[in-house]
Amino acid sequence: MARIVIAGGHGQVALLLSRRLADRGDVVVGLVRDAAQSDDLAAHGASAVVVDLETVDAAGLAAELEGADAVVFAAGAGPGSGAERKWSVDRDGAITLLRAAELAGVDRYVMLSSMGTDDPPEDDEAFSVYLRAKAAADEAVMASDLRWTVVRPGRLTDDEAANRVTAARHVERGEVPRADVAAVLDAVLHDDHADGRLFEVVRGQEPVDEAVATLGRQTLADD
Ligand SMILES: NC(=O)c1ccc[n+]([C@@H]2O[C@H](COP(=O)([O-])OP(=O)(O)OC[C@H]3O[C@@H](n4cnc5c(N)ncnc54)[C@H](OP(=O)(O)O)[C@@H]3O)[C@@H](O)[C@H]2O)c1
Repeated sequence: MARIVIAGGHGQVALLLSRRLADRGDVVVGLVRDAAQSDDLAAHGASAVVVDLETVDAAGLAAELEGADAVVFAAGAGPGSGAERKWSVDRDGAITLLRAAELAGVDRYVMLSSMGTDDPPEDDEAFSVYLRAKAAADEAVMASDLRWTVVRPGRLTDDEAANRVTAARHVERGEVPRADVAAVLDAVLHDDHADGRLFEVVRGQEPVDEAVATLGRQTLADD
């Protein structure tokens, strides 16, 4: 049993992940900025802590992470937001969570990132800024001393889980159901093979648990 804190606790992937974690007996805490979302979290087996990632500082957030075994960054400014919130949520929110995890002695950080962050465009389109913000957050996480994993899914869909994916450092562009991303995050949190791994994931043929276990057997030449 682990205690896992999910930033962006009311997000679609976060709720699917909460349900899975709670079903296996983990204690799940979701960070939300609206207390009215607490009932939805409870329905998915998670308790809620009200924190706005854009205003909390690392010390304040660390107090909420005491005793956690892992944190998951599943928040995002969302498609309707402008460049400013890409920086304040997608980059700075993730880094505040990282610094808070370090202060609280949390061992593990799982980042829900995105495909396209390897070489993001330099223009001012919101999506380009989003990719650069995600890339900066990923870099900070990978430079840390925590046990980290960076998961970069393709375009998210609301299709039912297939429980099968393709996961590797680089994969062909594609889609992946949010439910399968939740399964990947669940597997990453319970399998050391993905420690220190950065990988892309799309819909595929390999069972999720095997795909995650295989990551640990890929050579550094794949990186
Ligand atoms: N869409 C795609 O195709 C795609 C592809 C690859 C990766 N991703 C990444 O995957 C992430 C999760 O996807 P999703 O569909 O689950 O996203 P989602 O449903 O939009 O969830 C994002 C969550 O972040 C929360 N949030 C935003 N600002 C916050 C703040 N200042 N403090 C605390 N929480 C805040 C939102 O809460 P509120 O309800 O308060 O706004 C929301 O619950 C995305 O954010 C994106 O970075 C997406």
